[in-house]
Amino acid sequence: MITGASSGIGGALAIELAKRGARLGLVARRADALTEVAGTIETSGGQALVLPADVRDADSLKQLAEQLQSTLGPVDVLIANAGIGPTRDGSDLNAKEVSDVININVIGAANSVSAVLPQMVARGQGHLVVISSLAAYRGLPRSAAYCASKAAVSAFFESLRLDLEPRGIAVTIIHPGFIKTPLTSGREAQMPFLMELDDAVRKIVRAIETRKKSYAFPWQLASIVRAGMVMPIWMYDRISRKNSFRE
Ligand SMILES: NC(=O)c1ccc[n+]([C@@H]2O[C@H](COP(=O)([O-])OP(=O)(O)OC[C@H]3O[C@@H](n4cnc5c(N)ncnc54)[C@H](OP(=O)(O)O)[C@@H]3O)[C@@H](O)[C@H]2O)c1
Repeated sequence: MITGASSGIGGALAIELAKRGARLGLVARRADALTEVAGTIETSGGQALVLPADVRDADSLKQLAEQLQSTLGPVDVLIANAGIGPTRDGSDLNAKEVSDVININVIGAANSVSAVLPQMVARGQGHLVVISSLAAYRGLPRSAAYCASKAAVSAFFESLRLDLEPRGIAVTIIHPGFIKTPLTSGREAQMPFLMELDDAVRKIVRAIETRKKSYAFPWQLASIVRAGMVMPIWMYDRISRKNSFRE
């Protein structure tokens, strides 16, 4: 089951995983876009079920997980990928936007886990994957809500890992840098080490297949971010403002 499967990383991951034999439940709000992804999968002999839903609606996700279980079988892997990533200067903060980012990126991921977890706990097996971001590690300019949401979702899944691993359920947290998708396409800001979608998807699939606990990429940007985590605050602020991802 992949959320946010109607475009970008989720759509490309679904198509790649189908090539590798996975049968997929595709979740997102836009049924027409999901149907297109399902069509691509079916044309090359795969199986995909279109499950239109808003990840903020916990009850719908529960029903869809049950529908998926009765149609294609129990959910082996959840990829909680649905997300939004608006950028906005802190001086122009918008409360509704902050709440949308947190509700989709954090509560939406938690709702997705809640929908499939009973099946996984009952079977004593399963794999939860979340697409977090390198933005989880420290606050970035013009990204307050997004950074907060990704820090929260990474901590949420890390905590789950401690509880669920002994019950046979693996947890993988993916921290990508910048990838060419509709989410980043409108941005005029600098995006260092921007990756092609296909390259990023290949790396994510490898991390899922090898059941990595955490995977941050590309290594160049991940190393810079890790260095930022141990920098004194004055140095971090100076460097971040200077490279504030503005045009
Ligand atoms: N692109 C990057 O550089 C990058 C880097 C790091 C992390 N990420 C993360 O990767 C994930 C996917 O992003 P992307 O770059 O592939 O962006 P994208 O192409 O805009 O895809 C976002 C997906 O999330 C779905 N979605 C959004 N709100 C939803 C909601 N309320 N309910 C259900 N589905 C919803 C969208 O489908 P509908 O509109 O049809 O609902 C769409 O399928 C996000 O979590 C993002 O934060 C992206």
